[in-house]
Amino acid sequence: MAKRIGVLTSGGDAPGMNAAIRTVVRAAIHYNMEPWAVYRGYHGLIRGEVEPLNSRSVSGIIQRGGTILKSARSDHFRTKEGQKKAAATLEENGIDSLIVIGGDGSFKGALALQELGIKIIGIPATIDNDIACTDYSIGFDTAVNTVMEAVNKIRDTASSHERVYVVEVMGRDSGYIALFSGLAGGADVILIPEVPYDMAKVCEQIQAANQKGKTYNIVMVAEGVGQPQSPTGEFLVDESPSLAIARYIQQHTGYETRITILGHIQRGGAPTVRDRLLASRLAYHAIELIYQGKSGKMVGEVDQIVRSWDLSFALAQDKQLNLDYYHLSNILSSI
Ligand code: F6P
Repeated sequence: MAKRIGVLTSGGDAPGMNAAIRTVVRAAIHYNMEPWAVYRGYHGLIRGEVEPLNSRSVSGIIQRGGTILKSARSDHFRTKEGQKKAAATLEENGIDSLIVIGGDGSFKGALALQELGIKIIGIPATIDNDIACTDYSIGFDTAVNTVMEAVNKIRDTASSHERVYVVEVMGRDSGYIALFSGLAGGADVILIPEVPYDMAKVCEQIQAANQKGKTYNIVMVAEGVGQPQSPTGEFLVDESPSLAIARYIQQHTGYETRITILGHIQRGGAPTVRDRLLASRLAYHAIELIYQGKSGKMVGEVDQIVRSWDLSFALAQDKQLNLDYYHLSNILSSI
């Protein structure tokens, strides 16, 4: 009997997940293995939502955002009992290897399954780009392009009305989306969780820019920056940091300020070329590893070379944000 491989997507969806699923399925068939779908991530695995796939199951999906396998968060899977049920589904269906497409939470789940005897390989896919041992995770490039297009549009209205726009983007603990789309979108100020910020300085930056002739401003804020602190030290508490940031800017500069929270549109849309190529290359390597009998690995691309790392090692690393981008943006916006 050909070796059976399960594939699931888990956590927040990311554009390019479908391109990865397509490659997993077709590369598995290429290596004479049987690809099986696991629907709704670990939640579906516990409930036995599995079925075989063929090469036509993944026709016409390379260009689609989201994930045809669906995604879900599962509290049950966090328990030992849930993990045993999930492993039992795989065993009952003769699936001994599982490819997990997702972010760090999904990979922790994969390691739990490995302890129960399942061979696992992780493929990094999250728009946050907060996974170490790969320059980019699947979905990040599409997300930053989506944000950049939105910023282009916001610029039109910001310039017409001569306002400040606070644009909040995703990135729970990571400033990658804010930093890359902020630099590419020409933001005046970029606030990211990796660099503490001071609202008095933010206002000074905006005022200095406008004294040099700027008539509108874009302030890019990562959702994970935390609440702003006022110069006197007290917290300004609001539902989202960008609301408090915008209110503070308007009060302290007198400039009319608006807020745009881009939200989940950042997670959708057709994947870019970069994401499709990355997804295809990483997924192919994942299948090669399974074919070689490997387990406990994460595939990644560094300096355009695809390779693999121990998943536990990758999870233990902090993804480093290249602050050169931050300093460059500050220089360009201050001239
Ligand atoms: O992990 C990706 C991500 O998009 C984060 O940037 C964001 O904070 C989170 O998912 C939102 O998750 P949910 O879809 O559960 O609201």
